Amino acid sequence: MNKFKIMVVNGPNMNLLGTREPEIYGSDTLASIEKRLSQCAQDHALDIDFRQSNHEGELVTWIQEAGQSFSGIIINPAAYTHTSVAILDALKACQIPVIELHLSNPYARERFRRRSLISPVATGVICGFGAYGYELALTTMANLVKD
Ligand code: DQA
Repeated sequence: MNKFKIMVVNGPNMNLLGTREPEIYGSDTLASIEKRLSQCAQDHALDIDFRQSNHEGELVTWIQEAGQSFSGIIINPAAYTHTSVAILDALKACQIPVIELHLSNPYARERFRRRSLISPVATGVICGFGAYGYELALTTMANLVKD
């Protein structure tokens, strides 16, 4: 049986996890998160494609690709959450479940982080649970795609 394919997309500066403001984002690196998530994907019989880019256009291209050949997308758009109409439009165009994810709880931080351009088109939002949020998101996605 073919496994459902889930794209996990990380936006700008997420490559710096581990050293970037650890008091906010924790000490896990993106590589260690990916490793744990791969195990979680196996447990749910899903295939994940885990990506990170600092470039808005590349993120848009990946979201379009997800819409064409993946069953769901989990996205931490990082700072683009608060600014990117291009990412909003790309997500709007793809007809698959979208989970918006943040390590921190942006609603408990600076005012400019309280506005997400992405949330209105997300199936749901997971935030504030650190790296564990990725596993929560994938477990939720498993339920969404298998329903
Ligand atoms: C973030 C929250 C954003 O406000 C911030 O710009 C990030 C990371 C998070 O995972 O908590 O880069 O998306």
